[in-house]
Amino acid sequence: MSTPYYLRNHWYVAAHAFELTGTKPIARTICDQAVVIFRGEDGEVGILGDRCPHRFAPLSTGEVCGNAIQCGYHGIRFDRDGQCTHIPGGLPVPHDFKAKHYPALERHGFIWIWMGEQAANPALIPDFHENADPGWAPVPGYLNLFCNYQLMVDNLLDLTHVVFVHKTTLAGGGVTETPLEVKVEGDRVSAQRMMFNVDTAPIFRAARGLAGNIDRWQIFEATPPCYIKITLGAREAGATTPLGEPVHMVLNGLTPESATRTHYFWSTTRPWGLGDKKIDELYRSMIELAFNEDKAIVEAQQRLISADADNVLFVNFPFDRAGQSARRILKRLMSEEQAAGKKLAAAE
Ligand code: FES
Ligand SMILES: [Fe+2]
Repeated sequence: MSTPYYLRNHWYVAAHAFELTGTKPIARTICDQAVVIFRGEDGEVGILGDRCPHRFAPLSTGEVCGNAIQCGYHGIRFDRDGQCTHIPGGLPVPHDFKAKHYPALERHGFIWIWMGEQAANPALIPDFHENADPGWAPVPGYLNLFCNYQLMVDNLLDLTHVVFVHKTTLAGGGVTETPLEVKVEGDRVSAQRMMFNVDTAPIFRAARGLAGNIDRWQIFEATPPCYIKITLGAREAGATTPLGEPVHMVLNGLTPESATRTHYFWSTTRPWGLGDKKIDELYRSMIELAFNEDKAIVEAQQRLISADADNVLFVNFPFDRAGQSARRILKRLMSEEQAAGKKLAAAE
C-alpha cells in the first residue's frame, strides 16, 4: 500500500455554496476522484461519482431534473443516493443499478464531501460560521494551486512570510521580530503573535484608516486535515479595543485535488461594514493579490520538491512550529487510519 497523502474519513470542501445555481452541475476532482456536484429542485445538494454506470459518460455532461441528475448521453437519471430513478423508453429500473454516492452536506456557506468508507460524522466539519451568519460580511474566493495542500497549510500557519511576499497588502512592522506562541491540544493547533506599537500594514490603513503605529494580532486555529481559521486585528497603538477582536478573519479550506494539486477555498469575513460594497471590493482586490502571490511561491516550492529525487527534508525554525505541529498531527492520523484499514482487511 502506498503512503497516503490525505485522510480518507473526513470532510473536505467540495464547493462554495453559491457555485451551485440553476440546473448546471459542477465537475470536480477531489482526492483523485472525479465527482459531480449538484443541487436538486428542493435545494438539497448531492454528490455522485462523475461516471454514469451505463456507458461511463460523465454525469456532469447532463443536467439536474427535479432532485435527480440526468446523464448527458442517453438521459438516464440518478437520485442523490446514486440510485437510478428513470431510464428513457419506460424500461424497468434494475434495483442495483447505481452511480457511486458520496455523503454531502451544506454548512457555513460551503458544500462538504465525505471521502471515506466509515459513517460520515457531521461533528467533524470545522466551525466556519463566520462565512454565513448574519452580522458578518464574507468575501469568498477560490484558487487552484499546483502544489500539495500541506504546503499551503504551512504557508498559512507561518505568517512571517507576509513581510516578504505581500509587501503591498499584508506586510507591516513587528511580524518577524515577535515570536509565535504555539499550543497543541489533542488534534488542534492554536498559535498567536501579539505585536505592540509597530508600523501599520497597508490593509489596516486602507480598511480601517490606521495610518500611524498600531498594536496588531494574528491568531490561528488549525484543525485536521486542512482547516485554518485566522483572526487578524489591529488598533491604534495603546487604544482600548480588546486584544484578539477581529478586523477580519480568513477561513481556509484546502482540499486535495491530487497529491500535487489543491482546491483552495477561502473567505475573508468581517463583523463590520456589512453591505458596504466598497469595503468588499477593497478586501477582494487586496486578498486576491496576496493569495496569488502565495500561489506563485507554493507552486515554485512544489516544482523543486517534485524535481528532488533525493527527498531532502525541510529545515525547521521556531516560526515553523505551528505548521510542523499540524503536519505531525496529520501524519499520525493518516498512519492510524491506514493501520485500522489494514487490520480490517486482515480480519475479512
Ligand atoms: S452513458 Fe449515461 S445514460 Fe448512457
Ligand atoms: Fe500569504
